[in-house]
Amino acid sequence: MCGIVGYIGSKDCVPLLINSLKRLEYRGYDSAGLGVISNGESQVIKRKGKVSVLEKDLDQITLKQPNLGIAHTRWATHGVPNEVNAHPHFNTDKSLFVIHNGIIENYLTIRKGLQSLGYDFITDTDSEVIPQLIDSFLKKGYALVKAVHLALSKIEGTYGLAIVYANEPDKLIAARKGSPLVIGVGNNENFVASDVSAIIAHTKHVVYLEDGEIAEIYKDKFYTRTLDEEIIDKEVHKITMTLDEIDKGGYDHFMLKEIMEQPLSVCNSMRGRLIADKGTSKLGGLEAVEDKLVQSKRIVLSACGTSWHAALAGEYMLEQHTRIQTEVEYASEFRYRNPIISPDDVMFFISQSGETADTLAALREAKIRGALVLGICNVVGSSIPRETHAGVYTHAGPEIGVASTKAFTSQLVILALITLNLARKRNMSLIDGKNIVKEMDLLPKKIEQILKLNEQIEEIAEEFKDAENFLYLGRGYNFPVALEGALKLKEISYIHAEGYPAAEMKHGPIALIEEKLPSIFIAPQDSTYEKIITNIQEVKARKGRVIAIASESDKNIDSLVDFSIKIPETIRMLMPILSVIPLQLLAYHIAVKKGLNVDQPRNLAKSVTVE
Ligand code: M6R
Repeated sequence: MCGIVGYIGSKDCVPLLINSLKRLEYRGYDSAGLGVISNGESQVIKRKGKVSVLEKDLDQITLKQPNLGIAHTRWATHGVPNEVNAHPHFNTDKSLFVIHNGIIENYLTIRKGLQSLGYDFITDTDSEVIPQLIDSFLKKGYALVKAVHLALSKIEGTYGLAIVYANEPDKLIAARKGSPLVIGVGNNENFVASDVSAIIAHTKHVVYLEDGEIAEIYKDKFYTRTLDEEIIDKEVHKITMTLDEIDKGGYDHFMLKEIMEQPLSVCNSMRGRLIADKGTSKLGGLEAVEDKLVQSKRIVLSACGTSWHAALAGEYMLEQHTRIQTEVEYASEFRYRNPIISPDDVMFFISQSGETADTLAALREAKIRGALVLGICNVVGSSIPRETHAGVYTHAGPEIGVASTKAFTSQLVILALITLNLARKRNMSLIDGKNIVKEMDLLPKKIEQILKLNEQIEEIAEEFKDAENFLYLGRGYNFPVALEGALKLKEISYIHAEGYPAAEMKHGPIALIEEKLPSIFIAPQDSTYEKIITNIQEVKARKGRVIAIASESDKNIDSLVDFSIKIPETIRMLMPILSVIPLQLLAYHIAVKKGLNVDQPRNLAKSVTVE
């Protein structure tokens, strides 16, 4: 949460920072601000709302050619989103600017201490203590770098920080503990950002800061140190992401672009990983731990949100085909109930961003308890892949829309590849393995076919856009899809939706059924089909309206439901990869028809870096 970008070099940094900040808006967008320095003079501007609101008022910056600056887009934790609480925060004479992503847990104690020394506080944020605390050390005569070290030694909590000081205009300071930060290494200019998407227009060379590291960045060099001030050498990585990948590419919204990209993203997740003649898969990132994985007695999959829904489908896949006991854990709950995890266990942490604070915290807990910890992540170089023992990248490409779509289908693909690999090494026959490979190969084409239903789904969205509640129902592999469909609708259309196992409906939710409550059944012709048809009839008997996601060969269902969306079939394990796509499109069209901002829904952020 919160996007950070900073620049030091010779260019006018204002337009550069604003453009970079726009690429970080998926991290938060309730307010934005900019602090710049030129010839020892400083100026700050902040606005409530999106970066575009701030952009309209940039003519108020009177400094000529500022070449040092930091900017922030906020997702509020402490203090309502308004201009005062927006970042940068500053010291009394506004010579020192700080932007912060994270939470300072002991801010009240620090604030009281500083107030007793005469410091005034003007915001409701936890972050404001940082510039004031640094200022208190500057006033004692320390130089900026030392003052930052001293201040951070007193701070408890999490932070990604960028700091500039008008009296030392040759440097930009960055520090990380729990919130991601990268340094962009340019030619006679350097950058700092929450993630690489903000700076790839300027450089492809980055350094990932680790927790407990502070960087002192000049325009032509940088130094990194631990909190104990020991110098550390950092590797410069070359990134492969391109600007095209993070643009809308002609679509109205990132979400639609990302839904439409799924034939390709699913293909990229499988690329080079299927071995047709051996009926298996190859995952280079897991080879080193393969033996332990194959012999494991228990696998635990942990994640949050959409990634948790992928984990749930993964549980079904692994149990069905490998017969290894598999469990799914909400990463956000994992640490709070003394979980039973032993060194014999294998834990997978699934995350699009690789930065979700709850998932990272669960990972660290599992590591302490001695488990083999593995990652399934999309963002290359993010924290989770760096902290796990081994793992697999999903290679779905950058996902910018806050509602996760292509990352989900790619996570399912990776879980299927892992299942196939383990099952073939344990008990699966060559014929069965080959059949899975064949079905996986066909997925991109089948997704293309489903995407052609876009117009039909848009019409259904028109019909149901004013409903106030929705039920999503599915059995077996389609239960996680029901949960995911409901989450998609909730987060972007603000319509209340519940995902439920279809068979559980009669144990309670059936009381809700009436004309105004649409039910969406995920009802492909698999082994649960007959039973789900019974559930559909139960809804119809109570005058409920039904939309069914059904198999293309299913001729009977049309007479039972109000609307059916016919999709191609595949084997059960892979069905969620297909059946979720109409639900993504339905949520998208309903939100657009309601005039909502689908890429930046209220109260949400793409990467949830607070616990
Ligand atoms: O980056 P992660 O996969 O770890 O994110 C987990 C959730 O925050 C995320 O899936 C969230 O639920 C999405 N907004 C869902 O669309």
